[in-house]
Amino acid sequence: MLFDEPPFRAYAANITPDPDTGIGKWTDAQLAKAIRTGVRPDKSIIGPPMPIEFYRHISDSDLAAIITYLRVQPAVKNEMPKSQYNIPLPPSYGSSIKNVKAPATSDKVKYGEYLANIGHCMECHTPRNDKGMLQLGNLGAGGQVFKGPWGESVARNLTPHKSGLKDWTDAQIAKAIRSGVDKNGQPYKPPMAFDFYKNINDADMSALIAYLRSLKPQEFAGKI
Ligand code: HEC
Repeated sequence: MLFDEPPFRAYAANITPDPDTGIGKWTDAQLAKAIRTGVRPDKSIIGPPMPIEFYRHISDSDLAAIITYLRVQPAVKNEMPKSQYNIPLPPSYGSSIKNVKAPATSDKVKYGEYLANIGHCMECHTPRNDKGMLQLGNLGAGGQVFKGPWGESVARNLTPHKSGLKDWTDAQIAKAIRSGVDKNGQPYKPPMAFDFYKNINDADMSALIAYLRSLKPQEFAGKI
């Protein structure tokens, strides 16, 4: 898949076990390092839209499960072109990571934050400044515009503000995330990956919603 944006033309890499065009020759440790710290075995840095800032939080056991899952996919021979970046890539996304433990599920807000990180919700639902950096002081306020074959969509405000999810019930929020339809049954547009979020189980959804309700309430950062 090609992501053709002003700052980059990025081609999503082949992550099937094909040894020549995919990740078949990478060790588990190399894969873990690439996913969690954005460094390939050849030491090059993985650029956007891969949301490494959020994937740094993936726990060891969840990362091991993801790698196991990648390894059992059918190998597909498909050489992808190299991505081109018109912006400087960061020299790194932070220090190397040894061990990450997920928060206890009993701490709903913290565990919900963990899920939001690995579901990289805030990558889209937080406004960016004119250099393309996320404005973390406005976490969840929405406003990023996504253009594509669907026309245009705007990431919504996920904070507990009137212009966000304040007046939504838990059931309405869960339905929006899992089924991709709004309170009135209208379908949302891409690029939110509703098809992948539809399997979030009830306990995880309840933690995710508890986390969204704990965000600082903020005015919607975009226009619809
Ligand atoms: C790739 C970008 C992207 C990611 C990642 C993403 N979203 Fe979205 N989301 C959007 C866009 C864009 C819309 C609005 C679509 C439209 O208006 O048709 C949306 C809509 C929503 C809505 C509907 C809210 C409203 O006010 O109508 C909710 C709730 C939501 N997202 C929650 C989440 C959560 C929780 C996650 C992480 C599990 C997430 N999103 C990940 C882009 C994204």
